[in-house]
Amino acid sequence: MDFNLAEFKQELEKRKQYIDSCLQKYLTRSDAYPPVIHEAMHYAIFNGGKRLRPIMVLEGAKLAGGSQESAVPVACALEMIHSYSLVHDDLPAMDNDELRRGKPTCHIVFGEANAILTGDALLTGAFAVMTGSAGMPGVKLDNLIRVIKEIADAAGSQGMIGGQVIDLESEGQNIDYDTLKTLHSLKTGKLFQTALRCGGILNDINQQGLQAIDKYSSNFGLAFQITDDILDVTGSEELTGKPAGSDAKNAKTTYPGLFGLEKSRQLAVDCVQACIDSLQNFGSEADFLRQLAYYILQRQN
Ligand code: IPE
Ligand code: IPE
Ligand code: MG
Ligand code: MG
Ligand code: MG
Repeated sequence: MDFNLAEFKQELEKRKQYIDSCLQKYLTRSDAYPPVIHEAMHYAIFNGGKRLRPIMVLEGAKLAGGSQESAVPVACALEMIHSYSLVHDDLPAMDNDELRRGKPTCHIVFGEANAILTGDALLTGAFAVMTGSAGMPGVKLDNLIRVIKEIADAAGSQGMIGGQVIDLESEGQNIDYDTLKTLHSLKTGKLFQTALRCGGILNDINQQGLQAIDKYSSNFGLAFQITDDILDVTGSEELTGKPAGSDAKNAKTTYPGLFGLEKSRQLAVDCVQACIDSLQNFGSEADFLRQLAYYILQRQN
């Protein structure tokens, strides 16, 4: 399969714009009462995120041969949960960062208390938004309930939050490779995994399809966080929109820290190869996901 980086970036941009327009519909207006929380929610969402997780929800629906439109509320909800996780991740009590998606972080602009509440409101609001898939073409309610449970689990104490806890506990510690892998799989891998799974589940994907998705997304999540760790060392702030050197500042254990840059890049390449292998039973309907995996190795933001 050919991979043209410039063309793929255009495709990603098109999809990002589509997700942005959907988010505009689902998010409470920024001038709703009380204004500060709604302004802060809009600030935390409409600030140039790549929208990879909602894009992957729609790809999961495509793999299952189903309706992408019916999965849009779930896709938007997942981006709300991801964006909340970033607002909290940047707080002084966590990574204490002042730049996100190229702009001052939520707590810098709105204050710490409002940033905590913004995260809370995005998380709880996400569960209201995802119910919007009920009644849409082809959506069975038992599938939607399963999706809601999957998202709650993936975002919770044995998913993304669990990963964030291990991340914080590991600051300044010498953790082993297995712990680092678990940390990355939970804090980053879980939301990607649930994105693809939920698009599939809403559209009655079969067990074999789900197994392929699990293999793809566990390797994708790992590759994504390895490259995030690499970009923290080598990336430019203008492109990543995040402070360079945040991990070193917080004495995080990272892939480059444990293995050096070259071996980390190789481990990311191995994960991407595993992503490609996981899709072998799919045809052209999986081409976007194949390209997305290649893109991870070249991304600069
Ligand atoms: C950043 O995620 C947080 C990690 C899990 C590494 P993204 O790189 O997807 O951030 P946005 O949404 O595009 O800003
Ligand atoms: C964050 O990991 C993962 C989340 C669940 C938010 P990082 O702390 O490495 O993410 P960035 O680099 O701040 O985006
Ligand atoms: Mg962090
Ligand atoms: Mg961080
Ligand atoms: Mg990082």
